[in-house]
Formats: sequence, structure tokens, C-alpha cells
Amino acid sequence: MEHEGFTVWFTGLSGAGKSTIANALAEELRRRRMKVEVLDGDVIRTNLSKGLGFSKEDRDTNVLRVGWVAEVLSRNGVAVICALISPYRDVRAQVRSRIKNFVEVFVDAPLEEVIRRDVKGLYKKALAGEIKNFTGISDPYEPPEAPEVVCNTAEETVEESVQKVLAYLEARGWLLPA
Ligand code: ADX
Repeated sequence: MEHEGFTVWFTGLSGAGKSTIANALAEELRRRRMKVEVLDGDVIRTNLSKGLGFSKEDRDTNVLRVGWVAEVLSRNGVAVICALISPYRDVRAQVRSRIKNFVEVFVDAPLEEVIRRDVKGLYKKALAGEIKNFTGISDPYEPPEAPEVVCNTAEETVEESVQKVLAYLEARGWLLPA
């Protein structure tokens, strides 16, 4: 059976858990025999967006590029999962307006918590002033005002976060049965 395409867009601070939830969601969708692509900021910046930095202009370019890829894939029946900080509301709104089945997921974790986790050691460097324009430290993050789903990763497990997204997709009738 062919399934309808959609884009699940994870936004949130570095270290909030976007990639972890995105990959776990992808695994579950593949288990349901859906066509899935994950577009992860850290990976995209090694290929499609190689050379881009972290100014507002470069971040916007990055987000719009990924949004375009998500648009063309999802209109061809692919379940597209994007995991980018995508800190600016206006550009997220632009992407949303171009994609038919768009689901914004706010991966919410308090700044103190992502600093404590510091998975990549980047917050330490940003706090020491060694990395400029670091989201949440020396660069803005604009939280979504009306996301379809919110995952509070300081309080819920990865499985619980994935279930929240699945429940939303299920309610829209976009999932193939398990
Ligand atoms: S976005 O702002 O353009 O959406 P994206 O998700 O692609 O960001 O990349 C974020 C990743 O780049 C972070 O998880 C981190 O590993 C790395 N990074 C390096 N410098 C910065 C910075 N100044 N601000 C945020 N993330 C940075």
C-alpha cells in the first residue's frame, strides 16, 4: 500500500534530543514499511549545506534548503524527518507554508539541562567564548508558538516522545499499521 507523504520537523536547542527522537521515529516508521528519509542538521552540514556557518543568513539558507528537499520528497510519498535547530520562527513558517502535511515538533529541554548534558562539549566552549553565535548562549532560539507536538526530553523517555509523534500521525491517518 502506498502511504501519504509528510514532513516531521524537529526544532530545538543543540543537545535537546532532536536526532535521537528523529532516528527512533524513523526506525518505527520503517518497521511499518514506510519510505523514510532523515535530514539531520549535523549530517546536512557535511554535504548539502557544507560551507555554511551560523549567521542568521546561513542558518536560514540551511533551513530553506532542507525545507525544499523535504517538500519534494514528501510530495512523493516519503515520510521525511528533519532535525535542525532551525531557531528562527519566520523561516520555519516559510517552510511550513510550502509543505502540505507538515508537523512541527518542539523538542523542549531547559537550557540548564542541555548545558549539563553537553553531549558534544560545545556548550562548554560557547560559555568560554570559544564558539561565537552559539544558539541559546550567544545567539537566539525562538520557541514555536503553536507546535503540533511538544516533547519534554528532561521529563520523558525517548520512547514516550516517539509515541507522542506517532499518536499525532495516527490521528491524521498518515501511518501504515504496525
Ligand atoms: S541550524 O541553526 O542551521 O538549524 P543545524 O541544526 O543545522 O543548525 O546545526 C546545529 C549543529 O551544529 C549543532 O548541533 C552543533 O553540533 C553544531 N554547531 C556548531 N556551531 C554552532 C553554533 N554556533 N550554534 C549552534 N550549533 C552549532
